[in-house]
Amino acid sequence: MTKNTRKVPTKGGLKFTTAFAVLMTTATLSQTALADEQQAAIERGKAASALCMVCHQADGSGKHVTDGESWPRLAGLNHEYLAAQMHAFKEGTRDNPSMNGFVQMLNDEQIQDLALYYESLPATAGEAPEVSEEVLALGEKLATRGDWDRYIVSCQSCHGPGNTGVGAHFPGIAGQHAGYLSAQLKHWQANERSSDPQELMASVARRLNDEDIEAVSAWLATQPATYTAKE
Ligand code: HEC
Ligand code: HEC
Repeated sequence: MTKNTRKVPTKGGLKFTTAFAVLMTTATLSQTALADEQQAAIERGKAASALCMVCHQADGSGKHVTDGESWPRLAGLNHEYLAAQMHAFKEGTRDNPSMNGFVQMLNDEQIQDLALYYESLPATAGEAPEVSEEVLALGEKLATRGDWDRYIVSCQSCHGPGNTGVGAHFPGIAGQHAGYLSAQLKHWQANERSSDPQELMASVARRLNDEDIEAVSAWLATQPATYTAKE
């Protein structure tokens, strides 16, 4: 082996390093710009959320009104999912007298800002009714294992580990208010919600009876909204 073949190509190497450094700086800069833009959107969303607080509360926790409506927790839900649902109310694939008027006031940018704001808030606990251990056990079974005899797939097979949600399309349902969860399942059964294009949820909901709905909603509401792996 001659010395020559082992010579380091200093000039080319330097050029490469410079180009790489420039590239990295540009990437870091645009990342900072993106973070700034996101933060500005969150701030705008926070200001706009004054409209929503009366129901969804200042911390985004929502509230279950006994013998009344259940206002869902928005805090910590995926922003693309939240935005899609606001558009669904606007377009009429979801219908709720409390929500309809409010979403009509929002343009696309405000919807995006509000969605980013609510996603940025820490998730709060769900409100669950007092039910027996047997009811909770049925709920846990449906949510985590399903019921193959009745062709019911477990909720977590779509809603992810701990039913805490996967990406933009499968929302977290653990730690959501039981009253809201059961209302949605009944909306699907009655064809009153058609916001999911593949009708994935409608076909799940149609296989559930009233007992199942009570049980799975109650159990899910007692569960943490964020996933931590168990040993
Ligand atoms: C008067 C009460 C009320 C106000 C004010 C209100 N909402 Fe709602 N919101 C509801 C109810 C009730 C539901 C559940 C509707 C249903 O059962 O389909 C809901 C559902 C939602 C959902 C769907 C959540 C999910 O998990 O799918 C989003 C997103 C939402 N609201 C955002 C907002 C925003 C943003 C504002 C303010 C601009 C707002 N809401 C103002 C009562 C309200
Ligand atoms: C085959 C996949 C799949 C399975 C299994 C499934 N879901 Fe869903 N679920 C979805 C999708 C997709 C959505 C979002 C619908 C939309 O975009 O409006 C959803 C949404 C929901 C919502 C609305 C949440 C909100 O914030 O508005 C509830 C409640 C729900 N599912 C409950 C359940 C329960 C309870 C089970 C188990 C018994 C279950 N799901 C099983 C796919 C599934």
